[in-house]
Amino acid sequence: MASTDPWLTYKFSVETCMGILRWPGSTLFIAKAGDPVGFLLLHPRGFLGCPYIAVVAVVANFRSRGIGAQLLEFAEAHFAGSRHVYLCVSSFNVRALRFYELHGYAKVGELRDFIADGFSELVMQKRLL
Ligand SMILES: CC(C)(COP(=O)(O)OP(=O)(O)OC[C@H]1O[C@@H](n2cnc3c(N)ncnc32)[C@H](O)[C@@H]1OP(=O)(O)O)[C@@H](O)C(=O)NCCC(=O)NCCS
Repeated sequence: MASTDPWLTYKFSVETCMGILRWPGSTLFIAKAGDPVGFLLLHPRGFLGCPYIAVVAVVANFRSRGIGAQLLEFAEAHFAGSRHVYLCVSSFNVRALRFYELHGYAKVGELRDFIADGFSELVMQKRLL
């Protein structure tokens, strides 16, 4: 996580990333193909009390093989029965933004200068019910 964008651009240390992954109430899921190839951090009430995909990441040399799509499908199945699911994506993370749009997520808000000046965190929503 600390070695890849968006966290690299924000200069998050391994310690900071570990802190994010220890968010009380959240659950960390690891995707494995023998070794770990990606992970998902889910919080059932992480965004305004609603289901929230806090982190999704795939190991760099395992990307573009559908693992990210499987992680999103897993998250949505995990939150089945909820009206919406939310996530945030950094404004400079154009590939992830397109990836989410392809999977039915729409931009519903923008948190300007939220983590660093000049960048926004875009709030994305998908209707599940
Ligand atoms: C965003 C991220 C999770 C997507 O994961 P991924 O495993 O690459 O996602 P997928 O493989 O499902 O889809 C990505 C691309 O691969 C393509 N793809 C999917 N399965 C494929 C396959 N079997 N063969 C070839 N291409 C495939 C998709 O069409 C998609 O194309 P695109 O990038 O042009 O849109 C990953 O890029 C990542 O970890 N990024 C760094 C961390 C990050 O930005 N996380 C999001 C923070 S909000």
